[in-house]
Amino acid sequence: MKILVTGGLGFIGSHTVVALQEKGYDVVIIDNLSNSDISVLEGITKITGIRPGFEAIDLRDKPKVIDFFNRYHNIEGIIHFAASKAVGESVQKPLLYYENNLNTLIYLLQQMQEKAIRNFIFSSSCTVYGEPDDLPITETAPVKPALSPYGNTKQIGEEIIRDTAKAYPLFKSIALRYFNPIGAHPSGYIGELPLGIPQNLVPFVTQTAAGIRKELSVFGDDYPTPDGTAIRDYIHVVDLAESHVVALERLLNNTQKVNFEVFNIGTGRGSSVMEIIKSFENVNGIKLNYKITGRREGDVTAVWADTSLAEKELGWKARLTMEDALRDAWRWQQKISKSS
Ligand code: WQD
Repeated sequence: MKILVTGGLGFIGSHTVVALQEKGYDVVIIDNLSNSDISVLEGITKITGIRPGFEAIDLRDKPKVIDFFNRYHNIEGIIHFAASKAVGESVQKPLLYYENNLNTLIYLLQQMQEKAIRNFIFSSSCTVYGEPDDLPITETAPVKPALSPYGNTKQIGEEIIRDTAKAYPLFKSIALRYFNPIGAHPSGYIGELPLGIPQNLVPFVTQTAAGIRKELSVFGDDYPTPDGTAIRDYIHVVDLAESHVVALERLLNNTQKVNFEVFNIGTGRGSSVMEIIKSFENVNGIKLNYKITGRREGDVTAVWADTSLAEKELGWKARLTMEDALRDAWRWQQKISKSS
């Protein structure tokens, strides 16, 4: 059965392609290589022994998108990762984010209607909750005004899909609201490839440990948390990838309750920045160079998921630990530091 994965050479996309291939799905990837590298295709192939189909297409190019769907007739489902995702950059370049994250979604959904492709998994984010009122966060928590254009594209994206599902009863979709993806595939063949200076914590940690960055700045230790640093729900990217296959199969098997569903995908546990640092040092036997600096604009104090709905409805639960993720992230960093 052929599945299209857009953004399939990206961090989460590549790990999802591996998980799909391991379940026997025939995968074709669309990626414009704006935030990924063609070498990821080799990495995927090394892990599974199966080279996925690949088309270097920019989904903003509507004629190219139409041409793709005229050439590929038997696609049963789409998992849509392709989007810009840097919160800070989205504040500087909002129109790039609205164009890249929303036009592309609309073009894909239009083609799904044209070609009667019914099953759509959308990469969403816990960022839609903003600063939550209650913790852990359930799917019924209020979606707050977005703190960034990036977050707004995820909220608007979900609304576009919701309206599409209302208008087209045969269309089925699930949005997965990720918490904080970290780690790398245990094989060491694929992982995170941040372009330039990493915005996210764990790639900055591994690059500091590798000597690429001089020291890690801990953005604030004056939060109302046990150790004063902010708390997040860090989920191993391999667990996150597997949740996409489970969600897709819910649609393929027609076991969804309504034709648009939303699930939080996290571990259900919160960890502070300092806990990540200490755990990284312990797991990898490395002393990390870091300093405490001021808070980062837009950061929330604490966010972690209530994952009971995904457990109940999808039968999915994260099984890897933060320690597994930090070990795998370091293995990957050492690999790419050697080859660069
Ligand atoms: C985690 C914690 C920082 C870097 C973002 C997006 C979210 C999702 C995941 C796409 C925070 C602290 C970080 C550093 C630090 N992306 N930190 N020093 O901001 O929780 O979530 O990425 O969907 O939408 O908002 O992740 O890794 O940037 O930060 O102290 O050098 O680490 O302050 O508390 P975040 P992050």
